Amino acid sequence: MSAGAESIRRLTVADIARMHADGERLPTLTAYDYPTARILDEAGIPMLLVGDSLGQVLLGYDSTVRVTMTEMLHHTAAVVRGSSRALVIGDMPFLSYSTPGEAVENAGRFLREAGATAVKIEGGVRSARTVEALVRAGIPVMGHIGWTPQSQHGLGGKVRVQGKGRDTARALLADAVAIQEAGAFSIVVELVPEQLAAVITSRLRIPTIGIGAGAGCSGQVQVLTDLLGLGTFRPRHARAYADLQGTIGAAARTWAADVMEGRFPGPAESVRMDEATLDEALGRTPDDRATTEPRAGHMAGIPLDRDL
Ligand code: KIV
Repeated sequence: MSAGAESIRRLTVADIARMHADGERLPTLTAYDYPTARILDEAGIPMLLVGDSLGQVLLGYDSTVRVTMTEMLHHTAAVVRGSSRALVIGDMPFLSYSTPGEAVENAGRFLREAGATAVKIEGGVRSARTVEALVRAGIPVMGHIGWTPQSQHGLGGKVRVQGKGRDTARALLADAVAIQEAGAFSIVVELVPEQLAAVITSRLRIPTIGIGAGAGCSGQVQVLTDLLGLGTFRPRHARAYADLQGTIGAAARTWAADVMEGRFPGPAESVRMDEATLDEALGRTPDDRATTEPRAGHMAGIPLDRDL
């Protein structure tokens, strides 16, 4: 390493705890593949969540419950390869943590096979024992309370803000505390009224990472395709910072027109060889060349067998 050059190392949950203690807000983004993980890592995003939202935004499923362990490991490994500093969290898919034993087994695969540093599981009080088992096994855990997409059928099917009533607000507070006490290093709070999310944040030592939960959380997470303007549907709580759908569509249309009009590829995208070597390879003389030179889009001029 040259003098003064800092070696990049991957952030740990201890770094996240220190950043939180220092009052830093924690921006977190979902990431699903190698090239975007590289960009987000270079942009300095400290935590990359390989969310099971990939089922909908990347694979075209109608919900996250269809996502498998194999798919999650495949995408998590790509995000780990694309990043060198960000803490990568693998989202445990539906039914991969039904018992603490199964959770440890599957979470271990995220760390061992895909190279993630932590896993995320949904649920509050009901998941506390599982969080405890994972942490005891040495696996850092991010919790997830409020709207938990894997329970969408149990929660009535429709995406809705959680904790608006007296009892549900109390239950959410209990969920948050249970997950912290079980040993999680952070907790996603999704679709919760901002005042309640702020109270939860103030009562916890660990950082809350909000999505649709107001500005009072310790950090924020967004689904990358929402941020980039690349989805078919953008929820109200998300803000698009780019219009990649428009950019990609325009690039594809311009390229296709260039191909059809013969403007692509041009000299800059093509390779030429020495003409004399080509004459030799084809067994032709420079005089033959004029009659065998191919015209754009035509195969005319290909030498006959006798020429080879
Ligand atoms: O799967 C996901 O992307 C998530 C975030 C929305 C927190 O769970």
